[in-house]
Amino acid sequence: MEPDITEQSDEILSRYSGESGDLIPILQEAQERFGYLPQEVMRRFAKFLRLPESTVYGVSTFYAQFKFAPTGRRLVKVCRGTACHVRGGARILREVEKRLGIKQGETTEDFEYTLETVACIGACALAPTMVVDKETHGQMTTKKVVEVFGDRGRKG
Ligand code: FES
Repeated sequence: MEPDITEQSDEILSRYSGESGDLIPILQEAQERFGYLPQEVMRRFAKFLRLPESTVYGVSTFYAQFKFAPTGRRLVKVCRGTACHVRGGARILREVEKRLGIKQGETTEDFEYTLETVACIGACALAPTMVVDKETHGQMTTKKVVEVFGDRGRKG
């Protein structure tokens, strides 16, 4: 484990007393700090909280907010809910995958983008939708995908 990560996780833990109820806030802080939950950090947390490692992994995998690999600086979520699906959501996803050169669940090699799909982003009236960081893009078309990502992937 990088010394930096060790120091930073100890710094997070220094603010907690070690109660089992501290687990979620500790995981949230680590996710915020590192952008994902490195395996070694989770082991450290389990020891600190005197919990089995399996409990820490079990809890963290239950929540979609926690990631287990480094993610891109920008998070792209394409909606695959029913309203979006019937209005061409699959086509939007294919175009985004083509532009970014990755499949859903993957991160671009330069760590600029991570691509995910979601069940519904709560903007069904604007279907098909996608979210880039916190910005919602509605009534998506393949042309709009090109506009959002600019020249990226143009050769594809
Ligand atoms: S189904 Fe896509 S926003 Fe609701």
